[in-house]
Amino acid sequence: MVSDILVASNRGPVSYALDEDGGLQARRGGGGLVSGLSAIGPDAGAVWVCAALGDGDREAVRRGVGETGVRMLDIDALAGEGTHTAAYNGVANSVLWFVHHMLYQTPLEPAFDAAFRREWEAYRAYNRAFAQALAAEAAPGAAVLIQDYHLALAPGMLRELRPDLRIGHFSHTPWAPPDYFGMLPDDIAAELLRGMLGADRLGFLTRRWAEAFTACCARVLGGTGSTEIGVHGLGADADFLRERSRRADVEERMAALRDQIGGDGRKTVIRVDRTELSKNIVRGLLAFRELLTARPEWRERVVHIAFAYPSRQDLDVYRRYTAEVSRVAEEINAEFGTETWTPVLLHVKDDFARSLAAYRLADVALVNPIRDGMNLVAKEVPVVSDSGCALVLSREAGAYEELGADAVTVNPYDVSATAEALHEALSMAPAERAERTKRLAAAATSLPPQRWFLDQLKALRGGAGA
Ligand code: G6P
Repeated sequence: MVSDILVASNRGPVSYALDEDGGLQARRGGGGLVSGLSAIGPDAGAVWVCAALGDGDREAVRRGVGETGVRMLDIDALAGEGTHTAAYNGVANSVLWFVHHMLYQTPLEPAFDAAFRREWEAYRAYNRAFAQALAAEAAPGAAVLIQDYHLALAPGMLRELRPDLRIGHFSHTPWAPPDYFGMLPDDIAAELLRGMLGADRLGFLTRRWAEAFTACCARVLGGTGSTEIGVHGLGADADFLRERSRRADVEERMAALRDQIGGDGRKTVIRVDRTELSKNIVRGLLAFRELLTARPEWRERVVHIAFAYPSRQDLDVYRRYTAEVSRVAEEINAEFGTETWTPVLLHVKDDFARSLAAYRLADVALVNPIRDGMNLVAKEVPVVSDSGCALVLSREAGAYEELGADAVTVNPYDVSATAEALHEALSMAPAERAERTKRLAAAATSLPPQRWFLDQLKALRGGAGA
């Protein structure tokens, strides 16, 4: 099958789980890219190339099971056993993610040694497998939209195989400033940037990340060449969220959460994240603890609902972080909890309906990442909120550019300032809170996923031959 529009990403729109009888259960994922792609409609014949991520996915590839328009690649079968793990865990998540989010903590990290060079080889092979699959699926002159840091080399590799294609690449993460990016070995930094510049057009979520990329190119390569660079700030999908958050399963979870919160007129501070180092969950908990210490009037009167869903648990550093989140939550409950009040409700089992329930009833949403490409939670809460929700927002989230004016903004490293911001947000008069929420919702939905996707497609095609 050949197609005029192709998307490529590590994580695809569907995943498969093996049930006890050996059957395969498909589960469709959400997210901006899935809803963005829906804009071109089911008849456009678009193809989404993604990696098989677990045993279920690999079994689906072996059995030839798949959804129309989705092409899953068993990377290890194509490029050698262990390739996907080395590329995804070793390079993409342990190195590129850490560089762009500035997460390394010296003196232990990073150390780019011989083992890393082998992982880099796997990263190349993984990117090559994608480039080859895309080359085979693309109609002459097709538009190919490659996603994220997993696939930084694929644009250049695809360009060599198919010079006729219009190739775009979009980064969903921040981009590191040159001094931090400069940690990468010189040859690898240059190879990575050249790989991306193999695209006709590169997209970033904010001007800040686009400028950092340009600055890295200026430092390492002397410039960005002829590649065009665009900024497309992905917004929340208002229609989907409003409809989904009114369903019965969400109402049920709201009732359950209210039971857990307890008390009369008790307020709630919520957060919803993957358990991800860049999300800064531990400092958020420490800020909540400081609030209860510095302003004891809030004791018994506020509950912090923290949803921290498991992520990248193959990596030791993520497992340790997950344990640290639980430890601090338990400490706070032991220190302040009473018979009738549990200060922190930590939930780790992923449940989208429950996240929406928390969005609806929250008084305050805490979004305090160290660095974040955009952060869609900050954009989703105001859209769904029942009676207005104050937003405490890190100035290091991409969403800050659009939402900063109506949020209570914080330096994510400043625990005391975050505690004060929680106090300010909790004390906000209901009328002001509702007004701000309205403005936040308008800003958050100004570029819905469908338009975000179509704008990029148009810009990519529009540049043809120009
Ligand atoms: C970020 C990245 C995505 C990634 C997601 C979940 O949003 O930009 O590319 O899919 O995190 O991470 P995971 O490693 O579970 O795919």
